[in-house]
Amino acid sequence: EKDMGTDLARVLVTEDEINAKLRELAEQIDRDYEGRDVLLVGVLKGAVMVMADLARALHSPITMDWMAVSSYGSGTKSSGVVRILKDLDTDIADRHILVVEDIIDSGLTLSWMLANLASRGPASLEVCAFFRKPEAAKVDIPVKYLGFDIPNEFVVGYGLDYAERYRNLPFVGTLAEHVYSGGKPA
Ligand code: PRP
Ligand code: MN
Ligand code: MG
Repeated sequence: EKDMGTDLARVLVTEDEINAKLRELAEQIDRDYEGRDVLLVGVLKGAVMVMADLARALHSPITMDWMAVSSYGSGTKSSGVVRILKDLDTDIADRHILVVEDIIDSGLTLSWMLANLASRGPASLEVCAFFRKPEAAKVDIPVKYLGFDIPNEFVVGYGLDYAERYRNLPFVGTLAEHVYSGGKPA
C-alpha cells in the first residue's frame, strides 16, 4: 500500500533523461555565466530536487537562496495572486539571478515572482524551468533554460507533488486515476 509504484499510470521522463538534461543545462549555464557570480533562487518546495542536482552539475561558483510563495484564493490551481511565505535572505540588487523552478503550469506563480524580483534591481534575471506544460499556459514566461515540455496531465515526481506526496520519485510519471478520484487501484 505504501508502494508509490502502484499509484502511477506511466513514466513520462526517466531518471536517465533527467540526468542527461541536467548536464546539458549546466553546461549552458556555466558557459553563459562565465566570470560572473550567479545566485540561484529556488522556489520552495518543488524546486528542491532540480536545484540540488543542477547546482552539483555546475562548475561555476554559485550561491543559493530560496523563496516560498503561496497563491491566495481557493482551489488547487494558482490564482496569480501570490503571497510571500519566505522571502530571500539576500539583497539581490546588482546581482545575477537565475530562478530555478520545477515546473511552469499556468505560469502565474513565476509571472508574479519575476515582477517582484525585477523590482529589486538585479543585474540580470533569468529562468531555469525543468518542466513546462505549454497547454496550461495562461501567461507567457520567458524561459532561458528549459528542461522538458510535457503534456497537461497530472504529473508527479522529481519535486512535483500530489497532496505533498511523490516528490521523492527520481523520475516523472503520470498519476493513476484512482489516486485522485478516490477509487480503488485496478
Ligand atoms: C507548483 C510548482 C510551481 C507552480 C507552478 O508549486 O512547483 O511552483 O506550482 O504553477 P503555476 O505555473 O500554475 O503558477 P506549488 O504551488 O504546488 O507549491 P510546491 O512547490 O510546494 O509544490
Ligand atoms: Mn512550486
Ligand atoms: Mg505543489
